[in-house]
Amino acid sequence: MAYNLLKGKKGIISGALDEKSIAWKIALKAKEEGATFTLTNAPIAMRMGQINKLAEQCGAEIIPADATSVEDIEKLYTRSMEVLGGKVDFVLHSIGMSPNVRKGRSYGDLNYEWFLKSIDISALSFHKMLQVAEKLDAINEWGSVVGLSYIASQRTFPDYSDMAQAKAVLESIARSYGYRYGKLKKVRVNTVSQSPTKTTAGTGVGGFDAFFDYADKMSPLGNATAEECADYVITLFSDFTRKVTMQNLYHDGGFSSSGISEEIVEKMKQ
Ligand code: NAI
Repeated sequence: MAYNLLKGKKGIISGALDEKSIAWKIALKAKEEGATFTLTNAPIAMRMGQINKLAEQCGAEIIPADATSVEDIEKLYTRSMEVLGGKVDFVLHSIGMSPNVRKGRSYGDLNYEWFLKSIDISALSFHKMLQVAEKLDAINEWGSVVGLSYIASQRTFPDYSDMAQAKAVLESIARSYGYRYGKLKKVRVNTVSQSPTKTTAGTGVGGFDAFFDYADKMSPLGNATAEECADYVITLFSDFTRKVTMQNLYHDGGFSSSGISEEIVEKMKQ
């Protein structure tokens, strides 16, 4: 059921690679709730992904942009404002990649060039999207910017490797830029810390199935799905959350506040 929560709102949605992507679900929901938006992804991901299908479904233009390139991000905002007929009201950052994770390097044997790449792609890109938006004055007052994070930023999950540092930086940027953009233009900036989700990025982390099941059993409400994450993010883009900013918001079925659950106790007894 749609509620018209984003009626008349314009936005930019990054990170939709395929139907499993969290950004894909957010795009479909945003469309359903009355928004118009552009879609963006890295040029290479577009060749591999199925973004054209999503663009058709949403009536959205695709604007290729490598999120590590300030020049690409400038073009992304400029073109989005042309296509959408003015400044945007919401921006989704749904971008993450670690070459160290992808290539299976252990935490005691990291390649530092790749470490820098992980941080550039997964965290600095968030700052770049905010800084370019500010310079181009591309976001309307009371606009909303959301990035997606994971609890490994706060607690150790060994296989998450250097992505843990990238997510810690991402969440910190939300606080620092949230302050600045709030003062300047009343734009809010938050991160949503989502349950493990079966996507390309998610399942690329070693031992994913085990910690997906563990998180599910630890969370009183069970893991949050990508669709549920989309519902939550839509509320953050809507006018019902205008004073929520500089937060890392857990969307995890209660995982982050749980010490142990009966299900895990039962498992340990076996
Ligand atoms: P996904 O693999 O579908 O999305 C990741 C996206 O990042 C892809 O579309 C990819 O093309 C894009 N990307 C990578 N490098 C890029 C670059 N240089 N420029 C522009 N885009 C680039 O996977 P998912 O899970 O939907 O990931 C979206 C976000 O959600 C990521 O930030 C991820 O860390 C986060 N997240 C995922 C969880 C999971 O378990 N799947 C849990 C919590 C957070």
